[in-house]
Amino acid sequence: MRVPMIAGNWKMNTTVGEAVDLVKTMRKNLDKISNVDKVICPPFVSLATIRELIKKSSIKLGAQNLYFAEKGAYTGEISPLMLADLCEFVIIGHSERRQYFNETGEIVNQKIAAALKVSLKPILCIGERLEENEAGKTEEVVAEQLNSSLAGIDDLNGLLIAYEPVWAIGTGKAATGEQANETISFIRRNVARLYDDKIAREIRILYGGSVTSANAAEFMQQPEIDGALVGGASLKDTEFLSIVTQTAVIKPRK
Ligand code: 13P
Repeated sequence: MRVPMIAGNWKMNTTVGEAVDLVKTMRKNLDKISNVDKVICPPFVSLATIRELIKKSSIKLGAQNLYFAEKGAYTGEISPLMLADLCEFVIIGHSERRQYFNETGEIVNQKIAAALKVSLKPILCIGERLEENEAGKTEEVVAEQLNSSLAGIDDLNGLLIAYEPVWAIGTGKAATGEQANETISFIRRNVARLYDDKIAREIRILYGGSVTSANAAEFMQQPEIDGALVGGASLKDTEFLSIVTQTAVIKPRK
């Protein structure tokens, strides 16, 4: 049985003070829900403070990126070792990093390997762009992203995948539940091809892209979708709580 997960990717939003306020507002209510993994991924600068705030809470913490080297002369970068102390998850290969920071499949692959080496659980993001979708290339693109991201990785060790069609991110134009389920089912079959059936059955695959309290149920009702990676709506306490609550109702842990 895969435990559902709702993860909030706060992106480049919130000062430390705002991050603290948001966590304090959500903490108590989120703690009442026990059958869903609740993860928040604030900016790097808030991780240490929030880690203290959620010490006694069931909320889990993730980072939004890392650099693959352990340490050294890489001004401005954050290493896996630094994060391993602070959080459990790390988003890797988000389309915004691929688009604005030139992250290639090879870089994503190195980052995945570096995260796993220090037992950080990567949330690997893959997804097609609009023109690729319109050209009917969705499966080709996600299969290629999966191949390159996971090249040479033998042990997935808690790695999750987030299917985030780029055209659905921040646009208010989410995929339909059915579309997302179909692609996620394809991704799962590819995990079976790359690894084995057991790993494919156990790996958690999330949907991301314009998820809100209004459409969360549509995604959670789909059998292949194990949760969501939420951007904008994760910055509003009532929205995030509603998405988590609906997930707990629709996907009760057996
Ligand atoms: P939105 O939910 O704002 O569309 O962002 C999705 C996303 O990129 C999560 O990583």
